[in-house]
Amino acid sequence: MSLVSMDVLLREARGQGYAVGAFTVWGLASIQAVIAAAEELNQPVILQNGPLELNWAGARPLALLMRDAAQHAKIPAAVHLDHGNNLELVKRCMELGYTSVMLDASHLPFDRNVAAMREVVQAAHAGGVAVEGELGRIGGEEAGMNVNEGDAHLTDPEEAAEYVKQTGVDALAVGIGTVHGFYKSRPNIRLDLLKRIAEKVSIPLVLHGGSGTPDEIVREAISLGIAKINICTELVAAYNDTMVRQQTDEDFRYHVPGIFTKPRTAAAELVKKKIRLFAGL
Ligand code: 13P
Repeated sequence: MSLVSMDVLLREARGQGYAVGAFTVWGLASIQAVIAAAEELNQPVILQNGPLELNWAGARPLALLMRDAAQHAKIPAAVHLDHGNNLELVKRCMELGYTSVMLDASHLPFDRNVAAMREVVQAAHAGGVAVEGELGRIGGEEAGMNVNEGDAHLTDPEEAAEYVKQTGVDALAVGIGTVHGFYKSRPNIRLDLLKRIAEKVSIPLVLHGGSGTPDEIVREAISLGIAKINICTELVAAYNDTMVRQQTDEDFRYHVPGIFTKPRTAAAELVKKKIRLFAGL
């Protein structure tokens, strides 16, 4: 049995100076790709999804697939709800056996964000489930909502310390200039701000919008306290671009292993590349 709490993975990661990859999965092939890659490198991993994937695939089947894969994996694996957008979804995922949850209340004013998170933390911790909170707002598309650049804002270090103290969250997602999806222009990632946040907040920090973030910035961010890095767009792209490329090949088009094997392998290669970077291998 290798299903573990994300909390345990992340505390160890921050303590030891590496990060655990959290990969968005939407069904069997993506789950297999992530677990196979992590097993090959003998590294822990986090399977996660948010409202978009849960609405598309259904929470129950996804939870069953992810938990089964994690339980039978040769490496420690956690099952996480990313960007939960309401309390009902968070509670549903807890019932379905997610080992950690995120409620994204980052669009709310500080006091209401804190109040919402306190409620989640109380319910989650009572059931042994860990919680990720977000302070600051990450640009790009999140949980089906488009956060344009004007609405994105960076995390304030003092507020972050107060937020962690008042909510009791186990991990904190920070806004330091990364965006969800591929960058449309050169990113301005504020490592100076991350350093100030990390000086005030000792719990594991989470970097959203991992896709397209330059490797040297990722390495530096990990050395400053980032312990979880979310990857979605690059994984979907690796899978789907491979699928599209083989569409003209008659041998592949109407044959299940033919259609899905190469995209799954491409997704696993991408996951391996990211895990090596995050673990400093
Ligand atoms: P990317 O799509 O940029 O990899 O971001 C994923 C993410 O942060 C999910 O919460």
